[in-house]
Amino acid sequence: MRLEIVSLFPAICAGPLSESIMGRAQREGLVDIKLVNLRDYAHDRRQSVDDSPYGGGAGMVLRVEPLFECIESLLDDDAHVVLMTPQGRPFNQATARRLATKKHLILVCGHYEGIDERARQALIDEELSLGDYVLTNGAIAAVVVSDAVIRLLPGALGSDESSDDESFGREPLLEYPQYTRPVVFRNMKVPDVLLSGNHEEIRKWRQEQRVIRTAGRRPDLLRQHMETGEVNGNKKECD
Ligand SMILES: C[S@@+](CC[C@H](N)C(=O)[O-])C[C@H]1O[C@@H](n2cnc3c(N)ncnc32)[C@H](O)[C@@H]1O
Repeated sequence: MRLEIVSLFPAICAGPLSESIMGRAQREGLVDIKLVNLRDYAHDRRQSVDDSPYGGGAGMVLRVEPLFECIESLLDDDAHVVLMTPQGRPFNQATARRLATKKHLILVCGHYEGIDERARQALIDEELSLGDYVLTNGAIAAVVVSDAVIRLLPGALGSDESSDDESFGREPLLEYPQYTRPVVFRNMKVPDVLLSGNHEEIRKWRQEQRVIRTAGRRPDLLRQHMETGEVNGNKKECD
């Protein structure tokens, strides 16, 4: 996969993208990430890429010319251009799975009051939001999307780190509780079933726990799952 993040603050993205699974995926050639500084496409010596909004009002808007020139320089036939914005569709695991099938992603980060509407209309294929709150700029949001997508690329996770069994994985339920050594810590004991060595009993216990957890924490997911057979685009598979 080719992945570019267009931002005014590439340094915000650099650290997280170089660590752990995202760093390894790049070293192993699963993803080629380029951080693109929008200021490199500014027209003046001060490298300004924003201006005040027509009609007045607070804040600044990212100008249309640098956005066009920057994004057009990155486009190819496979490019899918995503704008990070609180006005977009809420990002979820099904979207991460869909984006992980793309050959070329361009994530565009806004700043200040956002981007000139003409750039949004002409250049953007899809708008994604991390949730109903407002961040200072889109760089952290782009890192979140990149992380969720990259870990789904074939080979990015080790065989012992499969994404199938985790929350929103093969089944649209939250994951079961996890324990590791020691067996007893301050009178809190690991459930006996997990120490039993009985794989079928462990599988059943974990499945029950997933349903109990989802019912307690995300009754909306469980209800949707029961009613429609789908949650956030995931097919129901856990009957
Ligand atoms: C201060 S915000 C602009 C918010 C905009 N004035 C509005 O009311 O919709 C600046 C930039 O941060 C990013 N951003 C802020 N909140 C976000 C969210 N919830 N999800 C994704 N990106 C977000 C976007 O790229 C946005 O252009």
